[in-house]
Amino acid sequence: MVTVVGIGPGHPDLITPAAQKIIGTADVLIGGKRLLDSIDTAGKEIFYITGHIDSALKELERNSDKSTVVVVSGDPGFYSILRTIRNRLPHLPVNAVPGISSVQVLFALIAQEWQDVAFTSVHGRSLDELDKVTGHNKKICLLTDDKLTAPAIARHLRERGVGGRAVVGKNLSYPDQELIDTTVEALAEMDGLESCVLYIEAAIGD
Ligand SMILES: C[S@@+](CC[C@H](N)C(=O)[O-])C[C@H]1O[C@@H](n2cnc3c(N)ncnc32)[C@H](O)[C@@H]1O
Repeated sequence: MVTVVGIGPGHPDLITPAAQKIIGTADVLIGGKRLLDSIDTAGKEIFYITGHIDSALKELERNSDKSTVVVVSGDPGFYSILRTIRNRLPHLPVNAVPGISSVQVLFALIAQEWQDVAFTSVHGRSLDELDKVTGHNKKICLLTDDKLTAPAIARHLRERGVGGRAVVGKNLSYPDQELIDTTVEALAEMDGLESCVLYIEAAIGD
């Protein structure tokens, strides 16, 4: 059986007991190095997911008769490898165990509800994903990466006349967590801030 398990944003306090339990009983663990290094892998067969997704899928299929856990960050239902596994290995029965998403951590930090927010991601994708939701949504939350950083997104929005509040969460739940609550205009002038959660509360038409 293959189970995709969300281990939360990084801090051990935010891994659910259900996720810990299934990881503890797994024979094989598959995941990114940073993630597998953050959990107890003693006595398990380990396979690191690198840039080559095909070899990870091959390994997954080869081990599907064992108790195999694919470890993902945050929640498996929000921009993880789950969809790729379901699409590329449709014959494989797959379970998922939820985790606390990085976006939940950001909204908890600013004590704000998120049911009226439009979510997207430019992580490994293009700015088209952002453009699809900009304009008709006042509240947008997106995952960024090391190329389309939070300041790069802010510059893109500024060029399109979108201003307003911008909140960036980097390394959420880790000891070096950064939370920056600023404006699109100020964020556009900043550096760094790769692979973050970015929340925009647009002042549409201002
Ligand atoms: C492949 S997506 C995984 C999202 C994950 N499934 C979730 O629910 O949070 C990776 C992106 O999630 C965001 N992310 C994941 N963990 C984070 C953390 N601890 N702090 C800030 N952003 C994080 C970053 O935008 C990163 O580029």
